[in-house]
Amino acid sequence: MTLKKVRTAILISGRGSNMQALVEAARAPDYPAEIVLIASNRPEAPGLAWAEAQGIKTLALDHTSYATRDAFEASLQEGLDAVGTEFVALAGFMRLMTPTFVKRWHDRMINIHPSLLPSFKGLHTHARAIAAGVRISGCTVHFVRPEMDEGPIIAQAAVPVLSSDTEASLAARILEAEHTIYPTALRLVTSDRTRREGEKVIISQDVNPSPTLYSPRE
Ligand code: GRF
Repeated sequence: MTLKKVRTAILISGRGSNMQALVEAARAPDYPAEIVLIASNRPEAPGLAWAEAQGIKTLALDHTSYATRDAFEASLQEGLDAVGTEFVALAGFMRLMTPTFVKRWHDRMINIHPSLLPSFKGLHTHARAIAAGVRISGCTVHFVRPEMDEGPIIAQAAVPVLSSDTEASLAARILEAEHTIYPTALRLVTSDRTRREGEKVIISQDVNPSPTLYSPRE
């Protein structure tokens, strides 16, 4: 029997290394999501060029050429609908979305953030983690809600913060963990192995997080 894959679009603004991790994971025949579109609000995003070279459908919508956020999102929605998008993964998408757009994709849009939420929401997370002297940081995949970097947590990975760390070295260590948990999280939410109770995401027993790794294992 062929697996009916969930048609997933990825939204980026820049480098796109998380997008690349998702695209590569989705090549596995048993992966429950298929990547049908890579869209960017920055036409010059390096990730867009990579996706094009892979033969994936891309959409560049320069947000600066839209008078309003609503107008930008209307175009984005059109692009998503044109390829039958069922699920959206934000991967370094640096544009705040209106509550209307977020609600339209309620429980069908996820994001990755480079901290252990709810700590260090927003920008400059690595510098702020170092300045705060935390010993452990990490990354979080969560469902998107209208408030920035908020929403039910799907997966987290913990990463040590070393006393010798710079913003760049910590970012690189966390990024490596991001590339592992994002494909895992997308797999979980597109394969009905999670359910939401209130604002908590429950993962089915067989893929429960290991207590030492703090992230779902498959
Ligand atoms: C990642 O650290 C992600 O967590 C954050 O933005 C960065 C994007 O990097 N939201 P990339 O474009 O996926 O390489």
